[in-house]
Amino acid sequence: MTTAAAIKNTIAPALLRAASVHVRSSALPASLIASSAAHLSSSSPSSAGAGAGGGKAAVLPDLPYDYSALSPAISAETMELHHSKHHNAYVTNLNVALEKLDAAVSIGDVSSIVSLQGALRFNGGGHLNHSLFWENLCAVGRSSFPTSGPLKDAVDSRFGDFESMKREVSAMCVGVQGSGWGWLGYDAKTGRVEAATCPNQDPLKATTGLVPLLGIDVWEHAYYVDYRNVRPNYVNAIWDVIDWGKVEERLAAAK
Ligand SMILES: [Fe+2]
Repeated sequence: MTTAAAIKNTIAPALLRAASVHVRSSALPASLIASSAAHLSSSSPSSAGAGAGGGKAAVLPDLPYDYSALSPAISAETMELHHSKHHNAYVTNLNVALEKLDAAVSIGDVSSIVSLQGALRFNGGGHLNHSLFWENLCAVGRSSFPTSGPLKDAVDSRFGDFESMKREVSAMCVGVQGSGWGWLGYDAKTGRVEAATCPNQDPLKATTGLVPLLGIDVWEHAYYVDYRNVRPNYVNAIWDVIDWGKVEERLAAAK
């Protein structure tokens, strides 16, 4: 198994799954060859494809709006730093890790393959999460939660109503210890939407099985320029720039 395609479709997803659920090391070889969901490709936006070696490297996606479009909820300075510096670093480091993985796989160096789990999880997760995040946002004045339809029905069924969902998700985001993400996700087993949080850059699907619908970045780099240490003010403001059309689109795809 030496090709970039094998890495993209088998090894990297298996490593992400293994890292997420803390699979015993003795079980890892089986997981390496038992590919199922390709998290680095199928669970990511089209712009977040990743591979290395002879495959397509991960690429920093362009934003579908100007850096200044989300002000005052999120300033142009924050958006530029967040996108061009922070997300770009995850992309760069993911590609480095994938190149190392490619080399290790090509010679069957299982020890080195296993040692790359942390870098793949952190930087692969960072790339997936931010690619989802940018698409979740829209210019000020364009955010509108639907008054009917599948998304409203799903939110009402799980949370009671839109405002109750906002309160619950906001509280969970504010409560994340250290750095992490708040999410709305779709549970394919129950057919319901759920709220969740993940630490660091752990990707939602690989960590919980939920399909990501809406992600809220609560790392300090997402809000410190605008809100200093007051995360609740950032979380309160971000609801003004959520693209609910994208959330509903993801819900339809998940079903
Ligand atoms: Fe971020």
